[in-house]
Amino acid sequence: MIGFVLYAWQAKICSRRCKIKVLGINGSPRLRGNCDILLDRALEGAVSAGAATEKIFLNKLTYRGCQECPDARTDGNCKIEDDMQRVFPKVFEADVIIVASPIFFGSVSSQTKAMIDRFQCYWMGRYFHHSVEQPMRKKGAFLSAQGNEKDEFFLNAKGVIKNFFATVNAEYSEELFCKKVDAKGDIQKRQDCLDAAYGIGERLGIENP
Ligand SMILES: Cc1cc2nc3c(=O)[nH]c(=O)nc-3n(C[C@H](O)[C@H](O)[C@H](O)COP(=O)(O)O)c2cc1C
Repeated sequence: MIGFVLYAWQAKICSRRCKIKVLGINGSPRLRGNCDILLDRALEGAVSAGAATEKIFLNKLTYRGCQECPDARTDGNCKIEDDMQRVFPKVFEADVIIVASPIFFGSVSSQTKAMIDRFQCYWMGRYFHHSVEQPMRKKGAFLSAQGNEKDEFFLNAKGVIKNFFATVNAEYSEELFCKKVDAKGDIQKRQDCLDAAYGIGERLGIENP
């Protein structure tokens, strides 16, 4: 509870003095893969707009999916002590979250989904136990790449990400879906996607007037 009050206080002070904080989350297992490259372009765009950026590469972290703990905490915090404990505060402190995930079997990657599921305690605290304050309002963007050209998988993944963003009080503001990119780094040949990612970061990184 105190943590969330502090975030709100910090957000109020920072709305006048601090740079916009943009957090990029790469849910692909490939470093320098297609989503990673798109995310970097978006973060570069955000830096060009004056934002401070940070990137999390989920595949390097050690964390489990949600365990549906029978004795789960009711204060909005997850009791599992693993690397997700470093991710939670970063998500709540960010002004903007950009999630990049490849399409795996028609949805987000397991790394991305396992991270999202770990917000269940927070969801329970907010909507069921009413024990946590609404987190700071933020913006969210979703970047994705897939091998084939169907739209339906992107829409499926979008549903998962929208659900996550709603939970952490992020407005689903921007999206980029890049089709027909499969091999590692294929996205480098897609200037349209790279430019679109940069534009997303640029727009989201601009400080509120
Ligand atoms: C486990 C796995 C499942 C995949 N499932 C799909 C799929 O359902 N549809 C699709 O179009 N591409 C699928 N792909 C291809 C990836 O989406 C594609 O290679 C993407 O560009 C990878 O992005 P990355 O380099 O950021 O990891 C799959 C790849 C893997 C490894």
